[in-house]
Amino acid sequence: MKSNIASAAFFCAMMAGTGLAGCSTEAITPIETEEMSVDALAARQRAPRGVDERLSGGATTVFLSDETAFGQAAPNLSPTSLRQHDAGDDAFAAEFAARASMGVPGGLGPIFHHVACEGCHVGDGRGKPELDEKGFNGLLLRLSQMGVDAHGGGLPIAGFGGQLQDQAIAGVRPEGKFSIAYTEQAGAFGDGTPFSLRAPRYVIQNTYLPFPANVQVSPRIASPVFGLGLLEALDEQTIVAGADPNDRNNDGISGKANYVWDVKSQKVALGRFGWKANQPSLLQQNAAAFNGDMGVTTSLFPDESSAGQIQAIPAHAPEVDDRTLDAVVHYTQTLGVPARRNLTDAAVQRGKLVFENAKCAACHTPSLRTGTLQGLPEISNQQIFPYTDMLLHDMGEGLADNRPDFAATGREWRTTPLWGLGLTATVNKHTFLLHDGRARNVMEAILWHGGEAQASRDYVRRLAKDDRDALLAFLSSL
Ligand code: HEC
Ligand code: HEC
Repeated sequence: MKSNIASAAFFCAMMAGTGLAGCSTEAITPIETEEMSVDALAARQRAPRGVDERLSGGATTVFLSDETAFGQAAPNLSPTSLRQHDAGDDAFAAEFAARASMGVPGGLGPIFHHVACEGCHVGDGRGKPELDEKGFNGLLLRLSQMGVDAHGGGLPIAGFGGQLQDQAIAGVRPEGKFSIAYTEQAGAFGDGTPFSLRAPRYVIQNTYLPFPANVQVSPRIASPVFGLGLLEALDEQTIVAGADPNDRNNDGISGKANYVWDVKSQKVALGRFGWKANQPSLLQQNAAAFNGDMGVTTSLFPDESSAGQIQAIPAHAPEVDDRTLDAVVHYTQTLGVPARRNLTDAAVQRGKLVFENAKCAACHTPSLRTGTLQGLPEISNQQIFPYTDMLLHDMGEGLADNRPDFAATGREWRTTPLWGLGLTATVNKHTFLLHDGRARNVMEAILWHGGEAQASRDYVRRLAKDDRDALLAFLSSL
């Protein structure tokens, strides 16, 4: 993280004229849950004995809890690795322009969302579903039509591609604009305390071509980018071992790996990154971000996102060279993870038990061990506390985007890592959570859980205030 570029980064899917599914107010139906047996818990979620649970990122843990907490190089980097990290940091923070000049990299656009990676991943953290002071939105809309491409991915929309780029360089029209409207849905905890959840709705306007009907739209905000190398370093077996797609153990929670297309190896690979685990590697994720989010081409994605569209520009050499792309990849692999705080606090300890009893850990796996990633000893063989199983779960109708993404259905999302959660407000000055930033705080995020997580959510809804507060204290210590 170089500077604090403030940025921008929603719903029941219902878009004017696009025929997406409607909002459903979730009925509150208490489901009795059994407390998980101590043995089952031990198998799945306790850290190995003797491991210090403050070390969320193992040896990459950073002991800082201020607004720079997400943007620190892992403290165990070698001097060479640190130099590469710093070079990547420069490119991640740089504001791109259409034409290069005096230290400003060129290649932005012709259509884009934002001018810098850090414009959306503010402070290496998350975006928000609002406009920033530059007028850029931190939330983007992925688009596709029914059917799949040759590799099982979403089918792009003619004239719009796979994303609605709402910004453009001078002389070019953005593909379109969109607005977000929220509907409040009232609910109440078991003790009668009321709450309200806001369901987003998107309206696409001012498109440069008539916008077709029946477009599948998936809203997404930028997620934090620290600790990702560790998640890339998890052995495939470690992730797949947690999968139970047919729910053989009958706990109501399945968990399924996504398999996506790896452009570099030209093979199907395990999906790890993105809200639906729709990207196989940080290389592909980052090159796709340069391309789709900023209109910047690389050797991996040499065609502009406007290619094949009316406003296409002639083919040209990659706008970011491989050295820079590699540095950015290295940067996102080597950002350290903030340490846990207040572990011995009584409320935090009680909240940890609530987290266990609510079976949150059935998806938010507290601890995993990384494997070996070639050339990156710093992130290899680390005991980490990411609070994710890296798998897809059906989260119910309320959170559904109804847009499949490779093996992920329109109701499935990857379990979001919870490390660093408690520092969101400090780093990002907001607490908008979930894939579309609809939740205004942690409790709202929990109350949106449905589908496989319905029983967990109902458990929390029935808790007494003290226990709810303890759960929040625990989550805030992450
Ligand atoms: C318009 C805002 C925006 C910009 C600009 C942007 N991103 Fe992102 N980023 C996102 C969104 C939204 C996601 C989630 C994507 C998804 O689910 O498909 C994301 C996801 C990621 C992830 C994966 C995070 C995870 O936990 O899986 C990485 C890494 C990343 N971006 C890196 C970058 C880099 C590098 C750049 C600059 C080249 C960049 N981003 C520019 C919005 C943005
Ligand atoms: C069935 C799996 C599952 C269970 C059980 C589950 N979660 Fe989640 N959780 C998810 C998924 C998947 C998401 C991402 C949903 C989205 O963004 O639409 C998520 C998102 C979250 C978020 C928002 C994170 C962010 O950065 O946006 C929080 C907070 C959270 N869960 C906490 C909990 C707590 C606390 C419990 C237990 C009461 C719990 N979860 C139970 C799967 C689960």
